[in-house]
Amino acid sequence: MNHSQSLPEPAKDALAHSEKLIARIREEIAANDGAITFRRYMEMALYEPALGYYVAGTHKIGAQGDFVTAPEISPLFSQCIAQQCQDVIQTLQQDNETNACILELGAGSGKMAADILLTLEKQNALPAHYYILDLSPDLKQRQKETLENKAPHLIQLVTWLTQLPEKFEGVIIGNEVLDAMPVDVFTFLKDKVFEHHVIWHDNKLIEQLQPASDALTANVKALNIPLEATPYTSEINPNLNGWFKALANCLDKGVILLADYGYPQKEYYLAERNKGTLICHYQHLVNEAPLLYSGLQDITANVDFTSVAEAADSVGFDVSGFTSQASFLSNSGLEKYFMQTLDLTPDDQYKLAQQVRTLSLPSEMGERFKFIALTKDYKKLLLGFKENDQRYRL
Ligand SMILES: C[S@@+](CC[C@H](N)C(=O)[O-])C[C@H]1O[C@@H](n2cnc3c(N)ncnc32)[C@H](O)[C@@H]1O
Repeated sequence: MNHSQSLPEPAKDALAHSEKLIARIREEIAANDGAITFRRYMEMALYEPALGYYVAGTHKIGAQGDFVTAPEISPLFSQCIAQQCQDVIQTLQQDNETNACILELGAGSGKMAADILLTLEKQNALPAHYYILDLSPDLKQRQKETLENKAPHLIQLVTWLTQLPEKFEGVIIGNEVLDAMPVDVFTFLKDKVFEHHVIWHDNKLIEQLQPASDALTANVKALNIPLEATPYTSEINPNLNGWFKALANCLDKGVILLADYGYPQKEYYLAERNKGTLICHYQHLVNEAPLLYSGLQDITANVDFTSVAEAADSVGFDVSGFTSQASFLSNSGLEKYFMQTLDLTPDDQYKLAQQVRTLSLPSEMGERFKFIALTKDYKKLLLGFKENDQRYRL
């Protein structure tokens, strides 16, 4: 991914789309005494019905889009997740007479769903249902197309949901879902906390600092950031508690497996990381201008995995594993799956070897991306965390 200050100009129709979203954002600003929080802006930029980045029709994920995720890089990633799902589902089925299933949150292009189902089919371990819950109607359509192309005979196992099921047993998985959640952005100036707002000024959207609410100030102060100098800007995701509460109501028994980029809290809020981690992706260029091309680019923040663990723990989940992507994949059979491809042409083998490097090398995705497992009423050791479990870092 390249860093850039100058981004390619969007096409005319894309700019017109962005203008429509900006008009909606301006209405919201006007209805809120001239300012909305950055979090509300991010929510609208990504998820405003019919207009937000994830909801409307740009390509987003993959080579023709704005960014690439692990399931797009290699089927090996999803094969390893399938291995972990299989182990959990079989354990649950041995323990009681249930039909343990898989629920994928934020399924993107549908590639991971297709690769997981194809892997489980080969192992004769298909679940009764593979559910998908995504906030994006546009991606839902793309997921259907991917499954129709890659695994047409398995699509009857897939059910798209519009909300979490009332009761669920099995594995809930989500790759890069947490980083796509709207965040509050704050700045410490001396010892005072300010919250970033978005206003309309001089014919454009700009950020404005306002004294933070009592709740945000308390949450930020609880982070105990070792401030060496201010201004210090970063972000915090206040939605985690509510999100895990909903997941706790839904999951009766089983495992939630989340993969994303981020850090344990102590490493996230370092004194030197004083500009935060919020970035945008536009046509494979990284930039730090979230108010630019609203609705046409992805906005994302790294994940504070300590907050994730705390929010999950507070609603009754056990935090049952935390490790790097490299370790999770290696524990879950990456080498085995790679060896199974030795009958491929040398060219294809070379491509797969490159993919393994991208997924695993510390300088690529291996260390920056993490896996966390949250369990309910499930005691068996999780395959993906059997070595190098790093929960002590949380
Ligand atoms: C960065 S994309 C990742 C897509 C896919 N998992 C992948 O790895 O390619 C984030 C996805 O999460 C979805 N999403 C964000 N918040 C969500 C939520 N609360 N529940 C379900 N999906 C969500 C978005 O619509 C989008 O599909």
